[in-house]
Amino acid sequence: MTTQTNTQAAEQRADLSDSRFHKAIRCEPVDATPIWLMRQAGRYMIEYRTLREKYTILELIKTPELACEVTLQPINAFDLDAAIIFADILPPLEGMGLGLEFIKGEGPVLHNPIRTAGDVERMTVPTPEEALHFTLDAIRLARNALDSRGIPLIGFSGAPFTLAAYAVEGGSSRNHEKVKGLMMGEPEVWHRLMEKLAEVVGHYLRAQAEAGAHVLQLFDSWVGALSPDDYRRYVQPYSRRAIEIARGAGVPIIHFGTDTAGFLEDIRDAGGDVIGVDWRLDLAAAWGRLGTNVAVQGNLDPIALMAPWPELEKRARYVLDQAKGRSGHIFNLGHGILPSTPVDNVKRLVEFVHEYTHQ
Ligand code: CP3
Repeated sequence: MTTQTNTQAAEQRADLSDSRFHKAIRCEPVDATPIWLMRQAGRYMIEYRTLREKYTILELIKTPELACEVTLQPINAFDLDAAIIFADILPPLEGMGLGLEFIKGEGPVLHNPIRTAGDVERMTVPTPEEALHFTLDAIRLARNALDSRGIPLIGFSGAPFTLAAYAVEGGSSRNHEKVKGLMMGEPEVWHRLMEKLAEVVGHYLRAQAEAGAHVLQLFDSWVGALSPDDYRRYVQPYSRRAIEIARGAGVPIIHFGTDTAGFLEDIRDAGGDVIGVDWRLDLAAAWGRLGTNVAVQGNLDPIALMAPWPELEKRARYVLDQAKGRSGHIFNLGHGILPSTPVDNVKRLVEFVHEYTHQ
C-alpha cells in the first residue's frame, strides 16, 4: 500500500489517540484503567439473544447493519473503553474455500478440512475485499456510530495457528491431534499452509484498520497446545509475518493467546504493542517477564463473573493490584466471556475497575 492511501485511511478514522485505551497501549498514565471484554457482544445479553431468534450467527456477521448493531449492544449497556467489531475468527477460512457452518450444540464445523498437500494447494488466498467485505463494511458503519462517542473500535483476526487448528481438525478439538500430527509429520505441507494463512490474516487485519479500526487484535486462542520449541519452529514465524503485514496500516496491535506461560517471551517476540495473558499467570509475573516496553491486557478468569459480587470484586482487585504503579494495563478477561454470565456482574465490574483505579 502507498503512503497516500495510508494517510487517507487515517483521515477517515477519528483521532482517538488521547483515549484511555490508546494511552494505556502506549504505556502512558491514564485517569482510570481502561476495560473491555473479549466476546463482549454475545449470548449473555438479552439484546443479542433476541436478534439471534431471527438470524443465524453467519447472517449477523454477513449483514453489516446487523453486525454494527451487535457491536454497539455492549457499548450501550456498559461504560466500556473499546468496542470490538462483531465477527468471528472463522469466515476467513470460508473465504479460502472451506465450508463453514455453526451447528447448535456442536459449535463450528469446517466441512472440507485440510489434511493433504493437495488440500493446501487448493486453498485460495483471496483479498479481504473479495472474501470479507461484509466485516469491512460493518467496521465502516460501526466507526461512524462510535467516533462521535470517542470510543475506539477493535478489528481482529484469528492467528495462523488457531485458524490452522480449525482448518485441519474440521472444528473444535480437545487434543489437537490432527493439526499437530500434520505439523510434526509433514512439515513441508505445514509450512505451506501457514504461509497462506499468514498472508490472509495479515492482509485482513490491515484492511480492517484501513476501513477504520483503531486497534487490531490477533487471537491465538489454542496456541497453548504447543511446546515452546514447536511454537518457535512452526508457528512464531507466521504470527510474526501476519503482524508485520498488519503493521503497514500503522495502528497498534494486541497479541493474545491462552496457556502461553511456557513461551510468553516468544509470543512477545512475534510482535504486538500489547500482550494478552490469561489467569494461569499472575499479571505481575507475566509483566515482569515481558519487560517495560509492552502493555499488558488481562487477566481475570471469566468464571469469576459467575461468583457473588464480593468474590468477583476481590478477584478484580487482585488483578488491578498486580498492575498498580505501572502504566500500560488494559483490564480484560483471560479468555472470552461465557454465555451464562450475569449481566449485572458485567456492569458492576466495569464500574468497579474505573472507580478503583480513578486518579
Ligand atoms: O468479542 C466480540 O464481542 C466479538 C465477537 C467474536 C465472536 N467470536 C462472536 C461469536 C469474537 C472476537 C470471536 C472470536 C472467536 N471465535 C474465537 C477466539 C476467541 C476465543 O474465545 O478464543 C474463537 C476460538 C472462535 C470460534 C468460535 N465461534 C466458536 C468455537 C464458536 C462456537 C462456540 C460457542 O461459544 O457457541 C463461535 C461462535 C460465536 N462467535 C458466537 C459469538 C457471539 C456464539 C454463537 C451464537 O450466537 O450462537
